[in-house]
Amino acid sequence: MARHLITSAIPYINGIKHLGNLIGSQLPADLYARYLRGRGHDVLFLCATDEHGTPAELAAAKAGKPVADYCAEMHAAQAKIADGFGLSFDHFGRSSSPQNHALTQSFAGRLLEQGLIREVTEKMVYSNADGRFLPDRYIEGTCPNCGFEDARGDQCDHCTKQLDPTDLIDAHSTISGSKDLEVRETKHLYLRQSELKDKLADWIDSKTDWPILTTSIAKKWLTDGDGLQDRGITRDLDWGVPVKNGENDWPGMEGKVFYVWFDAPIEYIACAQEWVDAGKGADWQSWWRTDAGANDVRYTQFMGKDNVPFHTLSFPATIMGMDQDWKLVDYIKSFNYLNYDGGQFSTSRGRGVFQDQALELLPADYWRWWLLSHAPESSDAEFTWEAFQTDANKDLADVLGNFVSRITKFCRSKFDETVPDGGTYGPLETTLIDTLSTRLQAYETHMDNVEVRKAAAELRAIWVAGNEYLQEAAPWSTIKEDPAQAACQVRIGLNLIRLYGILSAPFIPEAAKTMLTAMNTSGNWPDDIAESLAALPAGHAFSVPENLFRKITDEEREDWAERFAGTRD
Ligand code: MF3
Ligand code: ZN
Repeated sequence: MARHLITSAIPYINGIKHLGNLIGSQLPADLYARYLRGRGHDVLFLCATDEHGTPAELAAAKAGKPVADYCAEMHAAQAKIADGFGLSFDHFGRSSSPQNHALTQSFAGRLLEQGLIREVTEKMVYSNADGRFLPDRYIEGTCPNCGFEDARGDQCDHCTKQLDPTDLIDAHSTISGSKDLEVRETKHLYLRQSELKDKLADWIDSKTDWPILTTSIAKKWLTDGDGLQDRGITRDLDWGVPVKNGENDWPGMEGKVFYVWFDAPIEYIACAQEWVDAGKGADWQSWWRTDAGANDVRYTQFMGKDNVPFHTLSFPATIMGMDQDWKLVDYIKSFNYLNYDGGQFSTSRGRGVFQDQALELLPADYWRWWLLSHAPESSDAEFTWEAFQTDANKDLADVLGNFVSRITKFCRSKFDETVPDGGTYGPLETTLIDTLSTRLQAYETHMDNVEVRKAAAELRAIWVAGNEYLQEAAPWSTIKEDPAQAACQVRIGLNLIRLYGILSAPFIPEAAKTMLTAMNTSGNWPDDIAESLAALPAGHAFSVPENLFRKITDEEREDWAERFAGTRD
């Protein structure tokens, strides 16, 4: 039994996310966590909401709510959706937690002690009308690079150039719209991550087994230099972790908070503390401190590609800079984007399916299966309603659902709702056992390597093998000449349902549970296919489950395609 720490990038608090966000980190992280638990490992799976920064403040202002209230409500809403999708977090924390406040402040104090923080006097845009500085998204104007008129203080969404608020042309405050702006001097803290460049480069070079998507982004940022310039880690905002040196005030930093990208990854650690403080775990140190046993832990992070620079460079720079036995990540799995029907998902334009809406249309397993089996691993992927309908109907309803219902109903009508006795294995059964043994091994290898699409393809092939067996064995014909042989075939079929329940659980946990409950069994991960096809003995009672999956109709598909084309306000 090994110990696995798994984290998913923590989603921003500002609103319900679309399906692209789900497949970009939380869902594959859940798949991996469920798989490892299924194999008997000790897993700590953490996620949280990312609650600081200008997006949170702006969204709260738009909703007309105090930001703390807004965050509490949105956290609850996101937790409910996560639950709806079956995301099996051991804890779903909040970056605004007292634990994260204290930990972030103590990290900053230690980094100062290590000589890795310097104070910089900067020119910042100050709004006279608003009586405050305008960091990041509080200011918009024309991009000096491409002329786009709605560029934000931190980045131009059109040409993606990273900007400074002072770069913008003809800028205005997004709070009041005022153009009465001036440049004032103010002091900020910078993390001297450039000091750690060589150490980080060596570390990345040593990660030869990481996905190319992860290492290529990391290396590009390392060599372009952009990613490792010293980075401002404070902001002039009200909402956030107040700048402190451990528990002490930080002279000259009154009224400032840490930048959201400084405190958010620290929440991965604070979340483990929240997990303990919530009474769900005994100690967090053995997961996060190498001096307390975390050397035995394998730590895997999941995220979309836009998050890779922060997780391969900035956060490791923080951890290394601490020089204090904090655990570094062992494996970073990153994803490309999921597009929506020929374009991008767009939260602002309401284009594409949002997570809450998806759950209103169909149970989670439909989405889980489709998204995971089309995970954007080697390139961007695209959600279309046609593909969703075709694949869900074929894989889930025709292949898996149909198999389960045929076998159980046939058994009930010919033998009763108990596993029938009799018969012996012939060549068909030997072939089935061989095929499944090979495929099971491949499935495990892909899951161990977090190759999501390949694992899904292998699981689908495992379902297909059962169907082919049933088709060839044809117990509905066999029973006329050789009832004992038919009984043997049906017994294998029922055991296949049990096996599918176990193997499919990481992908489609609800349907898996239905299968296992119907077979009146729980069942551990199989070591040996022959053994597991005999796990339910003759005489074992089962029940015929409800249809596992229904088909998505053409009418529904057309209706949904129209509804989600881009109207959510
Ligand atoms: N909130 C960020 C996003 O949704 C992810 C933050 S991940 C963490 O892109 F490392 F900062 F926690
Ligand atoms: Zn631009």
